[in-house]
Amino acid sequence: MRKQTVSLCVTYTLALLVALAGSMKATGLRHGFNSNSSRIFNIISFGAVGNGIEDDSQALVSAWRAACAVPRATLLVPSDFQFLVSPVTLQGPCNSKLVLQIEGTILAALTTRNSLKSNIFQWLNFKWLNSFTIQGSGIVNGQWSQFRNLSLIHQNSTIPPAALRPTVVRFYSSYNILVRDIQIVDSPQCHLKFDSCRWIRVKNVTIFSPEVTPNTDGIHLQNTRDVEIRKSNIGCGDDCISIQTGCSNIHIKNINCNPGHGISIGGLGRGDSLACVSNVLVDSVNVQNALSGVRIKTWQGGIGTVKNITFTNIKVSNVKTPIMIDQFYCDQSSCHNKTDAVSISDITYQGITGTYSYEPIRFACSDSVPCTGLNLINVHLIPVNWWQYKREAFCWKSYGAAWGPVEPLSAGCLERSNNRLIKILTKPHNYTC
Ligand SMILES: *[C@@H]1O[C@H](CO)[C@@H](O)[C@H](O)[C@H]1NC(C)=O
Ligand SMILES: *[C@@H]1O[C@H](CO)[C@@H](O)[C@H](O)[C@H]1NC(C)=O
Ligand SMILES: *[C@@H]1O[C@H](CO)[C@@H](O)[C@H](O)[C@H]1NC(C)=O
Ligand SMILES: *[C@@H]1O[C@H](CO)[C@@H](O)[C@H](O)[C@H]1NC(C)=O
Ligand SMILES: *[C@@H]1O[C@H](CO)[C@@H](O)[C@H](O)[C@H]1NC(C)=O
Ligand SMILES: *[C@@H]1O[C@H](CO)[C@@H](O)[C@H](O)[C@H]1NC(C)=O
Repeated sequence: MRKQTVSLCVTYTLALLVALAGSMKATGLRHGFNSNSSRIFNIISFGAVGNGIEDDSQALVSAWRAACAVPRATLLVPSDFQFLVSPVTLQGPCNSKLVLQIEGTILAALTTRNSLKSNIFQWLNFKWLNSFTIQGSGIVNGQWSQFRNLSLIHQNSTIPPAALRPTVVRFYSSYNILVRDIQIVDSPQCHLKFDSCRWIRVKNVTIFSPEVTPNTDGIHLQNTRDVEIRKSNIGCGDDCISIQTGCSNIHIKNINCNPGHGISIGGLGRGDSLACVSNVLVDSVNVQNALSGVRIKTWQGGIGTVKNITFTNIKVSNVKTPIMIDQFYCDQSSCHNKTDAVSISDITYQGITGTYSYEPIRFACSDSVPCTGLNLINVHLIPVNWWQYKREAFCWKSYGAAWGPVEPLSAGCLERSNNRLIKILTKPHNYTC
């Protein structure tokens, strides 16, 4: 504590001196206190070693506290170093426009070598921030193999296995966040998660984990609105981008997903819960070597709505099922059917082309709450191998229409929308999304 106060004091004194010097030679208003160097907080100056062996968590937290207090500050993680960091929470509120500039590598460390005192659900946990940026050409490495070893050690303990595999970078209750250019690799869980956030931009990031790593979503959104994710490369063992309940106004553009499970909305409505997702635009996405291309999955028994979702210009290659709606989602061998279901409406698939390895299109909608307003426009899907058996599209309780050239022709299995019929089929709910 004392050390921090001292270094903070030194920093301020320095800032003051620099400001004074600056203002003496200032010729215009732009000089003076605006000198940049006083706003750069290098983690090395706060005692970080950066050899990848010693734990630099305390230095990171100290540098964060100092930078957080100053407007337009930059917390610098310099290149050519590896900073080993234990799970930390870096929280606001901070002064405006804080930047975390990652040029070196941040490596995940276990809290203690042999024992785990509490659950770790996230590793770099950012919360209560406003107008904050993470940028730089550096790497955030989740070291998943280390956590896999940890779960082996703890296999007989009461700690739930998920608690041993943290999300690498998580934002909670934060606004005006930009994450750009960095790489996030080898996560034990989700790589980049936004929970209860608003006004989020992700740009030019690279996310990579081996295909075999379970539950390693690339980017995971929950209860988050007004999001733009662009120009990024994502490869992992689970969903490339996963959109959960409470998300709206989500724009995803120019993304490569390879390998993984593609772009997913859901699973929604688990445990009879309420789910609301609306206004999602997924544009210009390449999905390769994946379980699905674009899919929506909901559990039986949930309530709520998924509506106004557009998937456009999606190129798939060697994808098991490129287009999928599954209202019978279940992670066990079988789940009971229920009368409630999250309703799915106004879903447009436009310009979906490429190759599938199992089936082209699967719409499995609820008996009591059918899918409505499904539009297939210019869809062209063929088997990945020419000698392979061409499958038909599968439709169950799915209302909508196919437009323009559509291959397979069986995509015409959609039933014609008939509003009167659907009103009878769909029972009213007394909830609001
Ligand atoms: C301060 O930062 C701005 C923007 O990054 C840059 O254009 C300017 O040259 C910097 N000034 C100094 C003195 O380094
Ligand atoms: C995890 O365990 C394997 C096998 O016991 C070992 O080879 C590997 O080095 C361990 N990884 C870490 C990061 O401790
Ligand atoms: C966990 O329990 C099983 C069965 O009791 C035992 O064989 C195994 O060695 C235990 N694992 C650890 C890491 O203690
Ligand atoms: C994207 O990020 C990389 C670093 O990871 C950087 O070298 C490159 O300039 C960035 N591209 C753009 C367009 O900003
Ligand atoms: C549907 O979603 C798109 C994309 O987010 C949005 O621009 C549009 O306004 C929405 N339409 C309606 C009727 O809400
Ligand atoms: C649930 O309903 C679907 C569609 O009617 C049916 O195919 C499936 O067999 C049912 N599942 C169970 C477990 O009853």
